[in-house]
Amino acid sequence: MIKTSHVFLLRFINYKLMTRLTIFFLFVSILFSCKGVDFNSNEPEDDGYSIVASYKNPIEEWPKPMIDEGVEWKEMKPLRFNKTLFQDMNKADVVLGKTLFFDPRLSSSNQISCSSCHHPEMGWTTHTEKSTGHNHSLSKRNAPSLFNVFMRDRLFWDGRSLSLEEQALSPISAHDEMNMDPKKIAKKISEISGYRKLFKSAFGSDEINLEKILKALSTFQRTIKSQSSRVDGFMRGRYEMLNKNEIKGLHLFRTKARCVNCHHGEYLTDHKFHNIGLTYYKRDQEDLGRYNVTKKAEDVGRFLTPSLRDLLNTRPWMHNGLFDDLEGIVNIYNSGMKMLNPSKEKKAKDSLYPVTDVLMKPLDLSAQEKKDLVAFLKALNGTKYKMPIPDIPK
Ligand code: HEC
Ligand code: HEC
Repeated sequence: MIKTSHVFLLRFINYKLMTRLTIFFLFVSILFSCKGVDFNSNEPEDDGYSIVASYKNPIEEWPKPMIDEGVEWKEMKPLRFNKTLFQDMNKADVVLGKTLFFDPRLSSSNQISCSSCHHPEMGWTTHTEKSTGHNHSLSKRNAPSLFNVFMRDRLFWDGRSLSLEEQALSPISAHDEMNMDPKKIAKKISEISGYRKLFKSAFGSDEINLEKILKALSTFQRTIKSQSSRVDGFMRGRYEMLNKNEIKGLHLFRTKARCVNCHHGEYLTDHKFHNIGLTYYKRDQEDLGRYNVTKKAEDVGRFLTPSLRDLLNTRPWMHNGLFDDLEGIVNIYNSGMKMLNPSKEKKAKDSLYPVTDVLMKPLDLSAQEKKDLVAFLKALNGTKYKMPIPDIPK
């Protein structure tokens, strides 16, 4: 409308007036178009905007998270910068450990190395539900990523191992993994002349024994760390690194979606065991988790809370690797998983019947809230880093 009258007038008036009128109409049309976009909107006044703004502050000033009573919560924090990472990776014991990690001769068949199931280019796991070991047998669980294993005080999904040194023996000897007799491994490695030099620089003597092999493997694994994510950048004050939806997702993660009750601190884990409802009790894929270690009824279906860093590099997820989309995972949490709980009579008859963790509750998230939460989870992914694979000695 404005445009038609605009053109019509132009034919009849002189140049000076025309310029003034043009400016006037331009002003009016800008005003109209602005009205359409911003001022005329029926959206509630605060479309989460003040929430978004409140996070663009030092972490201590963020809105307080909603934490259930009894939860020992730790605030999120950006990854510590590892200034000596490159020096550390070139230390003799780390180089030896890395070489052993990639060497398939640690297995009886000379076919399977640690890296077969924990591959650096696949987030130190494999992008498969289960992983393939000796004689093509499948592992019972999803191989966890080795990112940040140094910070774990318990290892494996059920926490059955207390240290990397102790842990490494189990894949080496397991029939479905590397199937190697631990008594024979030192002799086998000693016969590879290239290893003598590596052991000498790492330990000061070229004697090769099982203890040193496990020590070197562990020392190397402690250098495997997440790289900074956009969320880390944001926490360090680079507020442009997260968009509005990701920040709303961060807020949901800390409040309505209840995630921080279990996923908190620098690595977004509480290092505890919970049953979130994925035991598949008395069904195909049944896994009783922590119960296998403690034999306590309350531990049925409990698994160690994983870190949420680098999710996109470490898919698929959960102890069974059955979940390959984050939307699906958010839907599980949204349901609260309470529908799986046994009736009183059922529990009385079967004391092992799994009960979903009390921290799990239906969330009532809207479709948009689920999207925002997923956007935040994705922003926790670190930059991808390609580790050169070492030469394997002859
Ligand atoms: C055949 C595949 C396979 C091979 C080979 C393998 N792993 Fe694993 N790894 C797994 C699986 C599966 C798990 C989880 C098992 C569980 O939780 O019960 C695991 C768990 C681990 C964990 C625990 C991580 C955590 O966060 O709890 C570490 C550490 C580890 N492996 C290191 C190694 C090392 C070192 C080697 C070589 C000596 C190795 N793995 C070889 C499949 C494998
Ligand atoms: C009651 C504690 C608890 C709460 C609350 C919780 N989680 Fe978890 N989370 C866990 C545990 C335990 C696992 C591993 C469960 C398994 O494998 O059976 C897990 C696994 C995950 C995984 C898979 C990670 C991987 O590497 O396999 C994602 C993603 C995840 N949680 C996201 C969330 C989000 C998002 C929320 C909030 C909506 C949330 N969690 C709330 C305890 C919790």
